[in-house]
Amino acid sequence: MELLRRLLARTLGLGAAEDAEPERRLEELTLRGVGRFLSGGRCKKVLCMVGAGISTSAGIPDFRSPGTGLYANLGSYDLPYPEAIFEIGFFKEHPEPFFALARELFPGQFKPTVCHYFMRLLQDKGLLLRCYTQNIDALERVAGLDPERLVEAHGTFVTSRCLEPSCRQSYTLRWMKERIFSSLVPRCEKCESVVKPDIVFFGENLPQRFFSLLQADFPQADLLLIMGTSLQVQPFASLVGRVPPSTPRLLINKEKTGQGDPLLSLMGLGGGMDFDSDKAYRDVAWLGECDAGCRALAELLGWKEELEALVESEHAAIDARTEGDPWAPPKAKGGRDSQDPPPKIKGDVGDPPSAEGGAPPH
Ligand code: OAD
Repeated sequence: MELLRRLLARTLGLGAAEDAEPERRLEELTLRGVGRFLSGGRCKKVLCMVGAGISTSAGIPDFRSPGTGLYANLGSYDLPYPEAIFEIGFFKEHPEPFFALARELFPGQFKPTVCHYFMRLLQDKGLLLRCYTQNIDALERVAGLDPERLVEAHGTFVTSRCLEPSCRQSYTLRWMKERIFSSLVPRCEKCESVVKPDIVFFGENLPQRFFSLLQADFPQADLLLIMGTSLQVQPFASLVGRVPPSTPRLLINKEKTGQGDPLLSLMGLGGGMDFDSDKAYRDVAWLGECDAGCRALAELLGWKEELEALVESEHAAIDARTEGDPWAPPKAKGGRDSQDPPPKIKGDVGDPPSAEGGAPPH
């Protein structure tokens, strides 16, 4: 088996060609081992990769969980197959099902979770290199992640654009929200074409920011923290293979994901994560709810109280805003609006007057 592994590694470029063992940085392949590594002073740059599972406790369904996932519950939308709702070709012909779903999932109706605020703590402590998210719910922004620290790999709902290539007029979240909640298919005020939120549909390219930042980010990560994703969609899923061979990878998820092809894994090939084989040396799977995993890690790091206090204060700040909407304008005090300026996109159609704008709580 070992001979075959080396032969395949050399001829096909699969797996590690060289025989040198990568450095083992975790004392034990457990959450405690990761906690020790994270607090031991050698881990200064944490990269997060997250998916829909970090937002389910906020009330947003994921895509693929049997029974509760979005793809299992689109029966009423009259689709040829569930994924069609996020395919650009289908959307251009039939935009209505997407906007009906968007009404249900509109960002602003949900609060960030413990897991989102754990990443905020990593940022506040100077440990977050970047968060790569597949989510379009904008909860990372609402939780106060600095846009510089964030790569929204599948785009965002926060801005929208006219689909007509010669127009591409941009629109704000508020403009889009008004139309979606009036059950209208949003149409460009300049050219009447359909306006689509800036989320990446199947058949569209990921944002340039994703490709340009990953080149520099992944080779310098000290720890890869993967949470709430089935790692089934490319190119995002393949990012787990881009950190150096000695970089520990922690998966916090309900199920094991990212293990690659079982046969290739058995041979020590394939580049997927290896939690269980006798060659496992850096991958840890903590199975359960993302929030519970983050609480447990925070406890190991001595951050538990800080995390709970952050969640409480941030949720209270959201509740203090109109109808508990994190993107709503802050409540007026003495006739004037208070707190942060809105996340503005200059020159957008639908820009609210500046005194009225809402902001994600920070
Ligand atoms: P999936 O629905 O494919 O996977 C979510 C993962 O999170 C699954 O492994 C669940 O078991 C797990 N999970 C769910 N709730 C959890 C919880 N509370 N705690 C821990 N784990 C939990 O979602 P993604 O991997 O994000 O793309 O999906 C990737 C992409 O597929 C999405 O960005 C979307 C979709 O098609 C586009 O629309 C372009």
